[in-house]
Amino acid sequence: MPTDKIFIFDTTLRDGEQVPGCKLNPTEKIEIALALEELGVDIIEAGFPISSPGDFDSVSEISKVIRNATVCGLSRAVQKDIETAAAALRFAKRPRIHTGIGTSDFHIKAKFNSTREEILERAIQCVKWARNFTDDVEFYAEDAGRTDNEYLARVVEAVIKAGATTVNIPDTTGYCLPQQYGDKMAYLINNVPNIDKAVLSCHCHNDLGLATANSIAGVMYGARQIECTINGLGERAGNTALEEVVMVIRQHAHLGLHTNIKAEQLNPISRLVSETMRMPVQPNKAIVGSNAFSHSSGIHQDGFLKDAQTYEIIRPEEVGADISKIVLTARSGRSALAYRFRNLGFEFTRNDIDTLYERFLEVADKKKEVQDDDLKQLAAQHQPATTVVS
Ligand code: KIV
Ligand code: ZN
Repeated sequence: MPTDKIFIFDTTLRDGEQVPGCKLNPTEKIEIALALEELGVDIIEAGFPISSPGDFDSVSEISKVIRNATVCGLSRAVQKDIETAAAALRFAKRPRIHTGIGTSDFHIKAKFNSTREEILERAIQCVKWARNFTDDVEFYAEDAGRTDNEYLARVVEAVIKAGATTVNIPDTTGYCLPQQYGDKMAYLINNVPNIDKAVLSCHCHNDLGLATANSIAGVMYGARQIECTINGLGERAGNTALEEVVMVIRQHAHLGLHTNIKAEQLNPISRLVSETMRMPVQPNKAIVGSNAFSHSSGIHQDGFLKDAQTYEIIRPEEVGADISKIVLTARSGRSALAYRFRNLGFEFTRNDIDTLYERFLEVADKKKEVQDDDLKQLAAQHQPATTVVS
């Protein structure tokens, strides 16, 4: 059955790089951009060129080396920003200018001291400026998550008429519930007459831990682009994690969607970004955390050792992770202990394992995790005959 393509727009180098302490130098940015292209990302948001000469240069250098992906530069709805983004993108084979303005009443009043009508005009104007430089213009309605749907639909219709080819509906503050965000997309699809002329994009922040769920709701209701970052890096609590949305789409084939991402590169690129940005990945992070394929409780270990599918929905090799780990703690059972002994070359009888298990529990109660060296010591101290098989 043919499936709809979801465009993956990676913003690790822009929204991700806004994280305090994650600043990258141009060489590091180029390395990550090349890895993103290799991963199969469709659009790389390389930076915010007006923000600093360094960012301008990085966008420019990335534009020179990227061959297939679209390279995107961010700007505000300000003519100078847009001109600067266009200049930074001048070497790009496929340049995209991402421009926009806040559309929620919070932004209109508190940030701009303006009115809905004035903001609508500025939105149209910035798209027109950007279209002078490229046919590929993405408009963002900042804080769309808290923008009144009727007004948002007017803005979206107007910017598409002005030439926007992608319209980004950011949940800038991570406020929405998945159903609300999905309903927003459905509302736009049903109420914007020229919506077929543009791609709707999800850009969700993770303030309530809902960024992935909201992005998936967005594409279930008709959006066809997801903006995301490796390891979910980004402002405050971060952005939608690329690895998560990609694997949700792969796991749930019934959604009728696909991406071009090479899943087996997800763990290697996660490590590259984590090391380069000096930002450790939490161990329990979905897909790329060090515990994502570890089993430590006796019940889980027993089931996993009988059939991995009892406790794993993804094979680690599918996402380029190390093979599944059986971690030995005081919660582990006999089958896990026997398995780990076998991996070390010790084949024990059931009776031996019963005896060893008592001794193992004593060690496990004192330590967080029982390691290979502890097992070797237990084996060496064990009296009944042991057979070394290798
Ligand atoms: O979160 C946001 O609204 C953004 C825009 C600048 C796209 O990052
Ligand atoms: Zn953002």
